[in-house]
This record gives sequence, C-alpha cells and structure tokens, in this order.
Amino acid sequence: MPNYRGSATLRPMSDLSNKHIVLGLSGGIACYKAAELCRALVKQGATVQVVMTEAAAQFVTPVTMQALSNQAVYVSQWDPREPNNMAHINLTRHAHAILVAPASADFMAKLLHGRADDLLSLMCLARPLDTVPLLLAPAMNKEMWAHPATQRNMAQLRQDGAIVLGVGQGDQACGEVGDGRMLEPDELLYELTALFQPKVLHGKKILISAGPTYEAMDPVRGITNLSSGKMGFALARAAHEAGANVQLVAGPVNLPTPYGVARTDVRSALEMHTAVMAQVERADIFIATAAVADWRPAQAAAEKIKKGSEGLPSFDWVENPDILADVAAHPRSQAGDLYCVGFAAETQYLQAQAQAKRERKGVPLMIGNLGPATFGQDDNALLVIDAQGVKELPRAAKLILARQLVADIAMRINTKNKGQT
Ligand code: CTP
Repeated sequence: MPNYRGSATLRPMSDLSNKHIVLGLSGGIACYKAAELCRALVKQGATVQVVMTEAAAQFVTPVTMQALSNQAVYVSQWDPREPNNMAHINLTRHAHAILVAPASADFMAKLLHGRADDLLSLMCLARPLDTVPLLLAPAMNKEMWAHPATQRNMAQLRQDGAIVLGVGQGDQACGEVGDGRMLEPDELLYELTALFQPKVLHGKKILISAGPTYEAMDPVRGITNLSSGKMGFALARAAHEAGANVQLVAGPVNLPTPYGVARTDVRSALEMHTAVMAQVERADIFIATAAVADWRPAQAAAEKIKKGSEGLPSFDWVENPDILADVAAHPRSQAGDLYCVGFAAETQYLQAQAQAKRERKGVPLMIGNLGPATFGQDDNALLVIDAQGVKELPRAAKLILARQLVADIAMRINTKNKGQT
C-alpha cells in the first residue's frame, strides 16, 4: 500500500473541523496507533469521543485516550455518568462517523452477528444506519487476516453497510511478516477526511502528469525547471477523495505518493510522453500539470563533459513532443470520451497567454497560474479558462484549490454528458 505522509500542502489544517468522530478501540496491539490517530483527529479540528472495549484497555489506558481526546472515555454500557444510562444511544446521535481502529477479528465477528455484549458493539449495532457511517480498520496477525472466516465476515459486514478499510503489509508484533497490520494514523486520517468529500468523480479514471522533467546533457548534468509537483499531487489526492481511480505520472519530485493513488515515475519528457500515452485508452480525464521541458539536447554526451581547451559546451536542441496536445488530438478526446485539462505557467499576460494556449493545444479547459508564484509553493492562485471566459480561484492551499478544480471539472463533465443524452 502506498505510504501516505502528507506535507502541509497535501494536508491542510482543520480538514475535520465541525466533525464529531466516535473513535472505537477493540483489543489489539495496534491500540498504540489509535492514540496517535486520536491526537491527529483533534489537530484536524474534530471532536473525538473515545469508546473502548475492556480488551483495548489492556493495551492503552482510558487515561491516555482521555488526555488525548480531551473527553471522558467510555468503556462500560453501565456507565453511571449518562443520566438516562443509555451511553450506547447517546454517543452516536450527534456523530458524523464511527471509526473502530483497531477492529480485531473477534470484534468484527461479533458485529457480524449483531451481538452486543459490550458498549462498543452495542453502540455500533444501535447506530443510525443511514446517517452515521461505520468504518472498520482491521488489525490482526496475517493468518487470522487470511482465514476464510475473517474474509467472509468482512464481505458480509460490507454488505451490511460497514466500510471495511484495507490493511498494511509488513512486520507484525508477533514477529511474523505479512498482511494484517492496521493502517497508519495518517492513512486512517486520510480515509476519514475523504469520507466527507463529495464523490463527484466516482468510478472515473483520471490521468495526471505532474512535476518537472529532466533532460540529460551528460550522465551527471541536465536541464530541468522549478516545478515541485505539489499542484499535481494535490489534484491526485483530491480526485481520489472524490472517488476516482487515479494514475499519476510524475517527473523527478520529492513528494510522497498520495494515499490510494497509482504512480509511475519518469524522468524525461519522452518518458513522460510514453507513460501518459500508454494510459490514454483507459482514462476519462487527463489533467496535465507537468512542467514539461520544451527542448532536450539532441544527443546527450556519453561521458561527463570536462572543462578544457575546447571552450564552452554547445548542444543541438530538439523540441520535445507536446504531451497535452497529443492527448487532445487522440481519437478518444476528439470523440468526447476523454476530457483534457491543461495548466499554463506564465510570467506575464496570464489570461491572454493561457487562453491562446488553450486554443493552440485544442483543450476545453486551461488553468492559468504564474510560474514564479506557484513553483515550490504550498499555495497558489488560479484562473480557470474555457471558451466562454475566465473564473478566478483566489490564493489558497493547493489541496483546497485542487478540490475546487475537481468539483469544477466534474460539473463540466456531467453537464457535457447530460447534453449528449
Ligand atoms: N505540456 C505538455 N507537453 C509539453 C509542453 C507542455 O504536455 N511538451 C502541457 C503542460 O503540462 C501544461 C500545458 O501543456 O498542461 C502548458 O504548458 P506550458 O509549459 O505552460 O506551455 P508550453 O506549451 O510549454 O508553452 P511555453 O513554454 O511556450 O509557454
């Protein structure tokens, strides 16, 4: 599973503000990660109500969870603090979601049968099915995970409306290695954040190019540009949050792969061209955020070029293929099956240059930004330019802008599809 480690760009603060999350812990060594998760949820602005089984309290104490959540923790259905003595009802009525992390094999088996002999299982059974989603983050030994009973239980829990999350792979507390580790706190945080994003691209296949390209001059030198890839990576994350299947083609960048996104790394414009064209048959939307080098040396030197008597090195330059223009000219784009979006990086006359570029490349939508004001930055300001005119997206974190763009693109595609029927 890709390792999601968000930078400030990819993970703005307060993503969960005004959200009330019930965090359930069943027994398992992964409870230690739930403590970190609790802290992360609070940092993102959520209020967190912790409910633990007695087994969970063997691994991490209610005192720890109370200190981290800043709320009294519930363990027993007989808790006298509830005036009506109905903690199992009261605790979920204002919740936006329940996340059980860790969800042990035993706890899931219990849920499956609708058993309710402790507060956590009783509360899950008594939750309003239609308004309070239940997420389960399984955590167990690899043999327990692979056991047909566990797999059968998870399939049935999904049918019953639970969102059963995946598991990580690697070293386990028991010393074995395999599938069954609970997802990391950052990954669980991502899952919860994504839960609240509208699924406007559900089932769509999105292809995104991102970052700079690097054109070699010799084995140790080349030309590139200042693109960091942050906007493209933020778009990949936002598209995935919106329910899309995302394929990212990335030039040389120093960024973690957004959770759930498939990534192909490339270096040169030619490699990027090949990787993108290989995906065109499958994609519904292509978003070209990459800052592709316009030229490359016709022939890179086989050995390092040395300083010396021959003076300054010189190269014959050839123009790189225009990836966006090639995708826009593809029969699927021409038939309206593939929607193409470009990013114009300019230093002046942004609107006019970006509009001209949109027409030249034959794409319906061009996003304009000022290169020096965006390359490497965590925020950006955009112009959304189509044949009708221009709309401004004021300066904001790149993930915020990416979500706005995803909503905008989804609306355009839905309008187009409605128009065709
Ligand atoms: N693009 C591309 N392949 C290229 C050049 C650009 O796919 N060889 C795409 C970029 O990913 C972006 C859009 O075209 O979506 C505009 O890129 P930009 O660098 O702003 O424009 P250029 O076409 O390179 O024109 P110029 O450098 O002259 O401004």
